[in-house]
Amino acid sequence: MSHLKITGRRRLSGTVRASGSKNAALPMMAVAILADGPLRLEGVPRLDDVRTLVDLLGALGVEATHEPDDTLRLETVDPKPTRADDELLRRMRAGFCVLGPLVARRGAAVVSLPGGCAIGDRPVDLHLAGLAALGADITIEHGYVVARAGRLTGAAIHLAGPRGPTVTGTANVLSAAVLARGETTITGAAVEPEIVDLGQLLLAMGAKIEGLGTPTLRVTGVDRLSGATHRVIPDRIEAATLLLAAAITRDSIAVTGVVPGHLGEVLAKLATAGSALEIGPDWVRIAAGGAVRPVDITAEPYPGVPTDIQAQWMAMLSLADGRSTVRDRVFPGRFMHVAELNRLGARIEHADGTAVVTGVSRLTGATVTATDLRASAALVLAGLAAEGETVVRHLEHLDRGYQRLDEKLNRLGAEMERCDDD
Ligand code: UD1
Repeated sequence: MSHLKITGRRRLSGTVRASGSKNAALPMMAVAILADGPLRLEGVPRLDDVRTLVDLLGALGVEATHEPDDTLRLETVDPKPTRADDELLRRMRAGFCVLGPLVARRGAAVVSLPGGCAIGDRPVDLHLAGLAALGADITIEHGYVVARAGRLTGAAIHLAGPRGPTVTGTANVLSAAVLARGETTITGAAVEPEIVDLGQLLLAMGAKIEGLGTPTLRVTGVDRLSGATHRVIPDRIEAATLLLAAAITRDSIAVTGVVPGHLGEVLAKLATAGSALEIGPDWVRIAAGGAVRPVDITAEPYPGVPTDIQAQWMAMLSLADGRSTVRDRVFPGRFMHVAELNRLGARIEHADGTAVVTGVSRLTGATVTATDLRASAALVLAGLAAEGETVVRHLEHLDRGYQRLDEKLNRLGAEMERCDDD
């Protein structure tokens, strides 16, 4: 395992390019199971979750080949396996996205039930109810989801739970419905850009889907899906993390290769918090001068502020000139980063799903422990602004979801070093 040593208060400047979206790429990789020909996904980020899913798919008879320009070619060479590897699934919840494609294309699946994780209880009841509505026979046996089905049949399915729509649940059910006989209507579907992008890939494979980007999806099942070539959308979470890095150090950088429209609410809040923004067709320049102004943040389903940058916002607001509140409607218990940010000198209290961040004038370096992917990113941002040295332990979390964030930040002028634990 390794840790990151950050020498804080270096100036950031220059231009950085966002990688392809992790959360779009993962469910797209899983639909290789559905295709009768090879799938070529361009702009797949080089990060650990992608590597883990390549291994998981490999054991399911889907061969992956890396081509230039971050293109990943996926092709089914053995359509028989139906059991997903437990150990790999434990490393990455998104592996659960193989369930829908396996049931739809191979008529069976055994996939271990994902446990809770550091950001809270993460049920999959909506995924299972959706697949059952399509005609899959689903049981839970010894901690596994065991699914069997003949040809699935179209149905009316509602996918929103008490916390709103489910993103990977929509991916799972949509990627099964495209091969079901007849019409499926999914209401309460996730409208995240990653789901729209998955839908675009499925359309390129020959699926019939209407309503992408709205909460109601109408799917007319087809008998087979072909291979296709598709470019993955840029990672809006990584782009937002990079913009927040400049906002916390009060510097000016440009992030290129982004879709500014995917960042609407994030950009609006950055402006409220005192950053000047210039927005181009596929880039955003941030110039953050003067004090950080306090701002209230509520993480919500798209188009709201994403829960996946709630922690990074909190790091930034810990240096604001006043008091901010941060809530998370998607994962109300996602506050493990609070104690670690406080270790760096932040003043954050949380109760009943609301964190109150009282801005301080400085953060001071310390050794902190990352508990999950986005909490790690928040600690890295806080380390950039803290006086002296910050050590962020358990870098494996960061590497799951960012393509070498430390290298990107170093190229902008940060000073951080990756070290192996003794
Ligand atoms: C995806 C993202 C994750 C992001 C999250 C919310 C991927 C690989 N991961 O996770 O980075 O933080 O969306 O934007 O894309 N829920 C249920 N029942 C279910 C499923 C979910 O009650 O069957 C609840 C969850 O506990 C949560 C809310 O619905 O409170 C949203 O979760 P969901 O959208 O499913 O998150 P993921 O798809 O797992």
